[in-house]
Amino acid sequence: MTTVTEDMTDRLAPPSTDLCDVHYTVGISIIVPTYREAENIPHLLNRVDQVRERAGLTLEVIFVDDNSRDGSVEAVEAAGFDWARILVRETDRGLSSAVVDGFRAARYPVLICMDCDLSHPPETIPNLVLALHSGQQFVIGSRYVPGGSTDDDWGFFRWFNSFVATVLARPLTAIRDPMSGFFALRKSDFDKARDLNPVGYKIALELIVKCGFENVGEVPIHFTDRQFGESKLTLAEQLRYIQHLRRLYMFQFAGMMYLAQFLVVGASGVVVNLSVLSLAFWAGLPEWLCLASGICVSLVTNFLLNRRFTFSYARHEPMLRQFLGFVSASVLGLVVNYCVALGLRMSVLSDGVYALQLAALVGIAAGMGFNFLGARYLVFRKRFLRK
Ligand code: GDD
Ligand code: MN
Repeated sequence: MTTVTEDMTDRLAPPSTDLCDVHYTVGISIIVPTYREAENIPHLLNRVDQVRERAGLTLEVIFVDDNSRDGSVEAVEAAGFDWARILVRETDRGLSSAVVDGFRAARYPVLICMDCDLSHPPETIPNLVLALHSGQQFVIGSRYVPGGSTDDDWGFFRWFNSFVATVLARPLTAIRDPMSGFFALRKSDFDKARDLNPVGYKIALELIVKCGFENVGEVPIHFTDRQFGESKLTLAEQLRYIQHLRRLYMFQFAGMMYLAQFLVVGASGVVVNLSVLSLAFWAGLPEWLCLASGICVSLVTNFLLNRRFTFSYARHEPMLRQFLGFVSASVLGLVVNYCVALGLRMSVLSDGVYALQLAALVGIAAGMGFNFLGARYLVFRKRFLRK
């Protein structure tokens, strides 16, 4: 990962340096997803035009608008730049799919995506392109590398929100600012991307993971808060991000994810078990019934959660049969647990400090492993259609 800290815009000034030559010959397609941004469009185009002239860039701007009907089309026409156009989508919706449609329609070999609200400074475009030319496969305009910043009035909540979202993406990429909607890549790399599922807001993260980019660079930007219009990043959009993350984790760590989710569900079962048991106890039920209800209720919640999330590929199969299978696997798991612990106790772990505890632990692990394999390959097995 490389960070370009120095401001390179001036080095692009015509006429001499060899870096410039690269820019004169390689065209740039700037894709701007828009929804109700009519007010911002002229400002963005004017600033892009200044950069275009100063650095002598060949470029086009494609707005991909989701039928805003707020004068966006007229605003693009009124600006009168022959390198700017707007695509209006009437059926599809959503930021990420708009970006993908724009990338497909692009005519130049370098693709850039940016917001319309001037949060992303067009003056940084040459820096992004330069980083791409210096060998990066994907370059992000980043708030969180040295030299990057945000406007001062980010309250605690907004900052914390962005922080949590970024941390959750950490296992997928080491990028400091994977949430950024300002980035550059080559059209040829984009064309190779398979299995894109452009749902939600985080199209950069989707591309980094699905394209398997290894050289990802970050260029510092100052992120300015929007002046006109309002943000479309709603709570629903943020919940969708959790879903998106789950899918990306599945894509990246397929096998491990089943086990990880199974363990998380198991941990939730412990909480359910203890809560039900305590409630029953406070209600004055006899202890055997408290213990039994804790186990039964947690068995049911574990089953439902595993069916809905961990092994969701099998959730259209008949539920009752799965449930009976799940209970059998769990009971067998307990038997395995008991036998392994007892077997160890009678052989290699017959004495020593904590030998009993160690035997029990190995028993638990063996029982859980058995439960997991049983659930994965028997109870919630994938069915393949025979031809
Ligand atoms: N076509 C289309 N369809 N465009 C959309 C849609 C949609 O459904 N929703 C939003 N947009 C456009 C907006 O008009 C804007 O140009 C851009 O996508 C980003 O939307 P904002 O509403 O400005 O989002 P934000 O400022 O809250 O979020 C920004 O920061 C995030 C990181 O903090 C964006 O840059 C995000 O991409 C980024 O992840
Ligand atoms: Mn914005």
